Amino acid sequence: MTELRHFLDLDQAAPETLRAMLDSGARMKRSGGKESALAGKTLAMVFEKPSTRTRVSFEVAMQSLGGKVVILEPEGSQLGRGETVADTARILSQYVDVIMYRTSSSENLTEMVEAASIPVINGLTDASHPCQIMADVMTFEEVVGPIAGRVVAWCGDANNVANSWIHAAVRFGFEFRIASPEGFRPPAGVLDWARANNGRVSVGADPVAAVTGADCVVTDTWVSMGDAQAEKRRAALTPFRVDADLMAKANPKAIFMHCLPVYREDEATAEVVDGPQSVIWTEAGNRLHAQKSILLWCLLGDAGLA
Ligand code: CP
Repeated sequence: MTELRHFLDLDQAAPETLRAMLDSGARMKRSGGKESALAGKTLAMVFEKPSTRTRVSFEVAMQSLGGKVVILEPEGSQLGRGETVADTARILSQYVDVIMYRTSSSENLTEMVEAASIPVINGLTDASHPCQIMADVMTFEEVVGPIAGRVVAWCGDANNVANSWIHAAVRFGFEFRIASPEGFRPPAGVLDWARANNGRVSVGADPVAAVTGADCVVTDTWVSMGDAQAEKRRAALTPFRVDADLMAKANPKAIFMHCLPVYREDEATAEVVDGPQSVIWTEAGNRLHAQKSILLWCLLGDAGLA
């Protein structure tokens, strides 16, 4: 049996495959093409958490490649009544060709992958968000140029998105500097992996040191809806807010990125979010093009990216 092409994390993908995906996505953005490449194929999207960008961009990506989409959520499916993730994977594998799964638990993703007999795409877990970072690297290269050798600075809560940035720093050869308070830093395992693979990843508590001379400044949401610790988190993270003074320490041509949704005046000021260095709308738009490449690779392999 041929090995399934899952898209689970950037540390599990070959650099040349990731590069081919980015190049293919950029080509499709510029010139279109591949409108019937996935005709006859169906994508199932399973959402255990809310989504706007991932949901709509994957649906439009699949449809624009000629494929179809079905969506499952706990409400309205047996997942919400205790049917296991593994059983859901076995059932979906009978009906569709690829699964995109968003879950708060990376253990759930592993359960889905182990039971599925079709490719699985990580649409976000508590540990990573690889689809987002493919769009982010694509955006950097579209706006600034090749990312290899450049500097990206992360300020604030080094969360699942930051973990995928660390993977990307190794895979694409750029420096990634993190400024976060104690308790909001990446897991040791992710940093160990970066070190073992000669990654240039640093973690500190000084946002100015992280941002000075950077080509890109990135942050993410501090507080999830209904978080009982919201005020405690805000107090710890406020010194890491991205404002105009902090952006001024970066390279004068630096861009500001945020995977969205953004909460203005929490993790970044409105002046930065809506300012001239912000590329957040291009970044959100590129989810569509990056995800077309991910779908093509999962379903057609390297030939799908040519
Ligand atoms: N950035 C991101 O994944 O957005 P959604 O949660 O809206 O999918």
